[in-house]
Amino acid sequence: MKTEKSKLMKSPSDLENKIIVITGGAGLIGRGFVKAVVENGGTAIIADIDELSGRTVKEELSKELRTDKIEFIRVDITSKESIKRMTDAIVNKHNVIDALVNNAYPRNKSYGNKLTPSLSSPTVSS
Ligand SMILES: NC(=O)c1ccc[n+]([C@@H]2O[C@H](COP(=O)([O-])OP(=O)(O)OC[C@H]3O[C@@H](n4cnc5c(N)ncnc54)[C@H](O)[C@@H]3O)[C@@H](O)[C@H]2O)c1
Repeated sequence: MKTEKSKLMKSPSDLENKIIVITGGAGLIGRGFVKAVVENGGTAIIADIDELSGRTVKEELSKELRTDKIEFIRVDITSKESIKRMTDAIVNKHNVIDALVNNAYPRNKSYGNKLTPSLSSPTVSS
C-alpha cells in the first residue's frame, strides 16, 4: 500500500517537456540543478553572466548526460533589461518558461564579510 509520502513523490518523467531556467546555472550548485532537471526529463536553460563558463558547462554536461536538452543564454540578473531580453528570447524559442530557479549569486565587494547590525536598522518602539 502506498504511503502518503510515496504518493507525493514525483516520477522521473515529471519534468518531461518542461522548460526550466536556472540562473547561475554555470556555478557549483547551478550545475546540480541543471543535472536534476535533465535527469527528470526537462530542458535546462543555463542562464548565467559568465558566457565562457556557461558554454563550457553546457558542453560538459551534455556529453556526460548524453543529452541535447541543455541550453545556454547569457543574463545579468542585476539588470531588468537583461532579464527581459533573456525571457523574451526563451519565450520566442520555446513559447513558455515553466519554472525559474533563482540561484545566481552576484559576488560583490562585501562577499565573505561578517554580517553586522546596521545603525540604520529599523527599531521597534512601543
Ligand atoms: N556553495 C555553497 O556552499 C552554498 C551554500 C548555501 C547557499 N548557496 C547559495 O547557492 C547559490 C549558488 O551558489 P554557488 O556556490 O553555486 O555559487 P557559484 O559562485 O559557484 O555560482 C554562482 C553563479 O552565478 C553566476 N552569476 C554571478 N553573478 C551573476 C549575475 N549578475 N547574473 C547572472 N549570473 C550571475 C556566476 O557566473 C556563477 O556561475 C547562491 O545563491 C548561494 O548563496 C551556496
